[in-house]
Amino acid sequence: MQGTGNPGIVMAGGARPLGSGRTQRLFSWAQHGAWLIRGGRVVDPSQHLDHVADLLVVAGRVAGIGPGLAAPDGTAVFDAQGLVVAPGLIDVHVHLRDPGFPEKETLETGAAAAAAGGFTAICCMPNTEPPLDAPERIADVVTRSRHLPVRVYPIGTISRGRQGLELADLEGMAEAGAIGFSDDGDSTRDSQVMRAALAWSARSGRPIMAHCEDRALAAGGVMHEGEVSRELGLPGIPAAAEEIILMRDLELARLTGGWLHVLHLTTARGRRLVRAAKVEGIRVTAEVTPHHLLLSHEWVAGRRRFAGEAEVIIGPCPDPNAKVNPPLRTELDAVDLLAGLRDGSIDVVATDHAPHSERDKPADLARAAFGMVGLELALPLMLRLVARGELTLLEAIDFLSTRPSVLFGLPGGTLRPGSPADVVVFDPEAPWQVERATLVSRSCNTPLLGMRLQGRAVLTMVDGKVVYVDTDAVARRAGP
Ligand code: DOR
Repeated sequence: MQGTGNPGIVMAGGARPLGSGRTQRLFSWAQHGAWLIRGGRVVDPSQHLDHVADLLVVAGRVAGIGPGLAAPDGTAVFDAQGLVVAPGLIDVHVHLRDPGFPEKETLETGAAAAAAGGFTAICCMPNTEPPLDAPERIADVVTRSRHLPVRVYPIGTISRGRQGLELADLEGMAEAGAIGFSDDGDSTRDSQVMRAALAWSARSGRPIMAHCEDRALAAGGVMHEGEVSRELGLPGIPAAAEEIILMRDLELARLTGGWLHVLHLTTARGRRLVRAAKVEGIRVTAEVTPHHLLLSHEWVAGRRRFAGEAEVIIGPCPDPNAKVNPPLRTELDAVDLLAGLRDGSIDVVATDHAPHSERDKPADLARAAFGMVGLELALPLMLRLVARGELTLLEAIDFLSTRPSVLFGLPGGTLRPGSPADVVVFDPEAPWQVERATLVSRSCNTPLLGMRLQGRAVLTMVDGKVVYVDTDAVARRAGP
């Protein structure tokens, strides 16, 4: 074997040394055809695998998993000892702001942030400007996404103009490549439109992805209505605003037989409603975000305490980056949502990555936009639950990769031989600080700013091509 100029990798058979220099190095990482990812902890929920092994990738596909795999000549060998090798993460709820808000994110910057976060496939929400509410707009995203480093799947609106009053052309958008439908950012105002969407879902099998929020009850609110909103004297959004529309949409799913996917579930009562609906046979699935699992309304007051932990770190008060919709709720809700993941009431973890520029996040909460970035924070937050023993690593990868793939019929989510090599290699213990400079996304609106987390992607691969590599981490591992 011979050195390559890429610290941390060597070539089997001594053939084709790769280039040197940062740019050239990244280029050659991306170009390479066959990889042996050696000696990592391979975690694949689709095969109930969790043991140290090699992963061989040839011609864009997984060619084998096992101990001591031989590397055919010309294979690049990546040393993954001490790292985790898993199917690439899949996020069914991302805002890419494209078209319309390039100062916040674009397809390109969002895809780069996804790759840096360990994601290999993401689904983008239609609350763009103009909204993705017609087949040609879906087709435009599909076309422009072809050259991106990760797989991007658009979600179309449920209603024309996302106004909630008239059904959009769901059939046409599905044909153009929409994988689901949502008026996310708002609930669908007219119950008749929601009924029609779910009736169409029953015929087509496509998901209707509901943002559950009673507009009148939530109007003017900037955070969860409770003791912290009262302490800060800020207008609140009651849990009931979410639960009322959740109940409506569950009833409409019952009436129509359509598939209701509940976006960003946040309350303990909401979790019970979803669970009861599942027991009754209603076709409902639900997602939870890492921030609703681990953060609470205390963060709006600058009291940064992870749900279920004791330490408090003081942040800005009030913190505009903690303003998100639905709002961060109580710690009891957060703990209950985690129980919901464990007992099957909640199906997947999704980030609701919602980038905003600093201009849109003034300290005055009334004027600040709702949302926080999530693509590069999901893995360390979920690993925090693993480190605490709340979830196994296999479960965490299941919620972040295998289940979203199976549920939404997306490629990836498995390292089964023959499947596309969508892979993440991550260091579960790597310490890093959340800062503007350590995030790839164009925006850095997160209440985690300044905090130290553990766990980061080292290498992300889509179809066997390296789309992200943390060259510094690789160099550190390779030593002087
Ligand atoms: O906080 C949020 N931000 N919640 C949403 O539902 C929409 C999102 C956005 O687009 O900024």
